[in-house]
Amino acid sequence: MLFPKKIKSIFKSKYVIPSFHQLSVCDQKGRVFLYKGKVYRAIFPSFEKEILDLLNSKMFQELVALGWFPKTRISSKKVEGFNLVLSHEKLLSSEQTEWCFSSLKESVLFLLKLEQFLNRYDYQLWDGHLYNVLFKNNKPLFIDLGSIQKKTKSSVFYNEILYLSIYPLVLLSQNERFLARSILTYHNFMRTIPAQQIEQSEAVQKIIEAFFKKNKLPYDLNCFYDTLFLEKYLTPPEKEETLWGEYQTDFYENQNLGRFKRYALIDRYIQKYTKKRRASVLDLAGNQGALLFYLEEKNKEKYTFLTNVDYDENAIEASKRILIEKGSKVSSYLFNFMLPKRALYKDFKHDVVLALAITHHLVLSQKFHIDAVFEQIKRYANKLVFIEFMPLGLWDGKTAPALPDWYTYDWFKIHFKKHFKLLKIKEVEKNRILFVGKVKKEETK
Ligand SMILES: C[S@@+](CC[C@H](N)C(=O)[O-])C[C@H]1O[C@@H](n2cnc3c(N)ncnc32)[C@H](O)[C@@H]1O
Repeated sequence: MLFPKKIKSIFKSKYVIPSFHQLSVCDQKGRVFLYKGKVYRAIFPSFEKEILDLLNSKMFQELVALGWFPKTRISSKKVEGFNLVLSHEKLLSSEQTEWCFSSLKESVLFLLKLEQFLNRYDYQLWDGHLYNVLFKNNKPLFIDLGSIQKKTKSSVFYNEILYLSIYPLVLLSQNERFLARSILTYHNFMRTIPAQQIEQSEAVQKIIEAFFKKNKLPYDLNCFYDTLFLEKYLTPPEKEETLWGEYQTDFYENQNLGRFKRYALIDRYIQKYTKKRRASVLDLAGNQGALLFYLEEKNKEKYTFLTNVDYDENAIEASKRILIEKGSKVSSYLFNFMLPKRALYKDFKHDVVLALAITHHLVLSQKFHIDAVFEQIKRYANKLVFIEFMPLGLWDGKTAPALPDWYTYDWFKIHFKKHFKLLKIKEVEKNRILFVGKVKKEETK
């Protein structure tokens, strides 16, 4: 039983009773937790000196200055059992299963460059998996302090990066999405037992051998540690046409710009309803990220971050590639927001959520309930939603398949109002009506 004084000291404002992150389970040096939307790392007492030496090193300061590690400081928060608590800059927390080929390749190259950088200072990485990489402003960062250690002989870095990070890239480049994505869903090498090692799987082995054969190269896995080799030989999977892959190509090629005229109006409404405060914006089904790029170009200072999500691999690959070329900070993720594989909305919550030219596809083609569509969109939103209703349904500009009787403006409005406080309805074009809504307070948690 605790004495009242002890209880009081624990509950003093800077005392925190943390709920440790579900993936912070192995690090010998500390444990990560989220508290009031911020990220902290409690360091085990036996590693305090090592971590303080690391934080004070020239190498670490350079790492942060390069933007390769999140800004980190010593926090005044207290956690029972720990003397040293660090606070890290909070980033959008995505997982490698939500990245397109170019994001994966960029992360692998980044890890190899980081290892070389650390080696110059007599440090090294312990791990080589991609759970330790996140993106900020479209650039990769390393987020695991515990993995940065003084150079010793032993480290699993080269083994892990090969099998868990490079193999999926090689498989993807060979169009083997299923195998690639199944490796990417592993948590390190930890699976149920008996487990088959990736390198022992005949299916994977054959594809790796075929990769060397196709490129007329001798079989040599050491090549995969060479960034120039990866740059040259690991190219995106051969382009299979996808339904939406080229949907916004016109925008970037300055063609048929009338198609994108409504972006100016959406920009104005976002400014109006956010009351000119800085906001984060998520475009659900944002295709190649054209609208977010437009918003960014219009007013860079206005947004804390801009995030594009789509389930079409070619569209997201184009979004990533084009936006990087343009120096944009808009980031791009690949997932089906209606059927998330994890509680994605917790990490992908933004102030403003856009869902444009999509509800008709979800309801009429993909057969989702309209309430389920609004429920999902709402989960990603802190404050505002901008959702288009397409009164002509799957109209292609010339013809439209017949609509079910219930698919009407009133039907959409009634359901919208069940989920959001209606702020504005605006007919934007013949087949587009924009609904602006506010997320009710009790539903933002
Ligand atoms: C007509 S386009 C609209 C693109 C963009 N919102 C706009 O207004 O220009 C529909 C987009 O929705 C995406 N999409 C459809 N269903 C999706 C889902 N369940 N999750 C993520 N994206 C989806 C498609 O890949 C496509 O890029």
